[in-house]
Parts: sequence; structure tokens; C-alpha cells
Amino acid sequence: MLESVQNLRNQIESFSLVGKEEAEQFRLQFLSKKGAIQDLFKDFRLVPADQKKAFGAALNDLKQLAEALYKEAMASFDNGPVVKENGDITRPGQPVEIGAIHPINAIKDEIVEIFKRIGFNVSVGPEVEDDWHNFTALNFPEEHPARDMQDTFFVQRNPDWALRTHTSSVQVRAMENTPPPIRTISPGRVFRNEAISSRSHCIFHQIEGLYIDKDVSFADLKQVLMYFAEEFFGNAKIRMRPSYFPFTEPSAEVDVWWGLETETDHKITKGTGWLEVMGCGMVDPNVLKASGIDPEIYSGYAFGMGIERIAMNRYQIPDIRLFTENDKRFLEQFKTGI
Ligand code: PHE
Repeated sequence: MLESVQNLRNQIESFSLVGKEEAEQFRLQFLSKKGAIQDLFKDFRLVPADQKKAFGAALNDLKQLAEALYKEAMASFDNGPVVKENGDITRPGQPVEIGAIHPINAIKDEIVEIFKRIGFNVSVGPEVEDDWHNFTALNFPEEHPARDMQDTFFVQRNPDWALRTHTSSVQVRAMENTPPPIRTISPGRVFRNEAISSRSHCIFHQIEGLYIDKDVSFADLKQVLMYFAEEFFGNAKIRMRPSYFPFTEPSAEVDVWWGLETETDHKITKGTGWLEVMGCGMVDPNVLKASGIDPEIYSGYAFGMGIERIAMNRYQIPDIRLFTENDKRFLEQFKTGI
């Protein structure tokens, strides 16, 4: 009797399940109610008692094998059976919507890349900052108006903490944590209490740059800014206007030549052709000292720019509020590569 099971096994194993028709043939021949396996089960009662166990086991094995082969074959055909539990797998899928990179992130990434190419790394700091890193170490005098409640969001529970008002706080942390030379840029969110009109915005993004080494000069600063202007704006023509920041001396505002060809150029540059893009300067010796760096040995430069302003000019975005409203019609315009 065991021989008949073995014979059937040979037939099953050599059956070529190449297509749906063959699979159906296979099912009818072996697996259906009138199939060969079922026939052998009917013979079970004729098997001598001492062989029943071995016969039953062999037959059950064979049945499982046949079922597995059938299932596997069916699954491999393109238009396989409709699998109930998983729904109809032959139906077209739901369209997947592809998102876009937010313009603020796109600009930030582009700027980071430009500075990475010349050896800058990226550092980040906390958005809730203490007075030391946001103000004191940056040479803000005790009574400086920028510390005023008007400009700064203080943390009520602890008046020593505030939402950082600029990314210059990360400069201090970088200098405290790493010995020179330091070449780092720090992108991040900053917060200012500027509820003057509905058009003003309290949360925006800056990117800060810092280079500390021996013999760093204002000429190095100018050179790196020309490199940046060339890479980002496609034009190395810049001008520097004297300015003031407590943490840099001397300090300057940097304008990039934008041009005056179109009406928009006039509007963006207020008729001057120049676009104001950042503040910068040589790190004040007091700041170096406060951050644990000897100003007799080291010097450095720093710069900081607002990402929103740059993005608004790049993409001609008329209102800063669009960045945070999450209006899909706005965001969808920044899809790329699809
Ligand atoms: N922190 C300054 C600001 O918020 C920008 C700045 C950074 C200026 C570094 C000089 C050097 O406007």
C-alpha cells in the first residue's frame, strides 16, 4: 500500500506547474474530491492494521506537499487568485501623493552645502536658551534694550531662560565645547516678540557662521562672503556697510548685488539694486574670553542671516506668513523632480 503513495508522490513531484491551466489540471487530478489523494484515503480501511499508521502519515504528508505546490504555483502567476483576506490584489492602487521640501528647508540645505564644501561643519543648540549663551557671553550690556521684554520671550518659570532671539547663542556653545580651529555653521529657529502688526512674525530661521583660528582677518571674512554670494546668488559682487552688534567689532551689514533690470528688481531692492542679506563682523575679544578662548592667540569672524528673507527673494514669496500656514496650494509649488 505504501508503494501506491510513493507512486503518487512521484507523479505529483514531476508534474510541471507552468501555467494556470496546468495548475487547474493538477488540482483536479490530485487535490479535488475525486482526485487521486482522496482516492487513496478511501483505501485506508483496506490497509492492514499494522501499516495504518505509516500509510496515514505518508498520505497526509503527500497531501500537504501537493497543496503547497499548488498554492505556490498560483501565487507565482501574475493574475493569481483573488486572496480574500487581503482584498482584491488585482485592483489598481490608491495614488500616493508625493510631498515637497519646504522652501525654508530647501534654502537652509543649499546654504549648508555651500559652507560644507569649504570645511565648515554643522552645530546646533537649544531653542530654549539661558541668559549667558543668548546675551551675557555675547557681550550684551546688562541694560541693553535687546534684552527688553519687548523683544524676548522669557520663560515664566525661570527668568534666566528665554527662547533664543538669534542663532549667535550657538557660537558661544561651539567655542565653549571645541578648541580652535572652529569652522561651523548653525541653522535654526529663533524667536522674537514682534507683535507690532499682523504682518510681523515671531518665529523665523537664521543660519550662523563662525570661524576661529590664529590670524583670522576681516579680509578672510570678506573672501568667504564673496564665495558664498557667488555660489548662492551667482554673483560675487557684495558691499559691506558699517553696522553694530555687541558681539562683533568691527561689524557690518552685507548687501549682494541683485540688479535693477525688472520692475521686481526695483521692488525687492527698494530701487537700489542691492539686497541686504546678513550681519557679520570680527568676533569681539570679550566674546572669545567669555567662551574660554584666548583673544591674544586667536581671532575669528561670525555672520548671521535670516532664511525667510532669502527664500522670499529667491521664490518671490510676497508674505512671510505663507511659510507657516501649511496651505497645500502654496507648498505644492515646491515639488521637484516628479
Ligand atoms: N545675530 C545677529 C542678528 O540676529 C546676526 C549676526 C550674527 C551678526 C553674527 C553678526 C555676527 O541679527
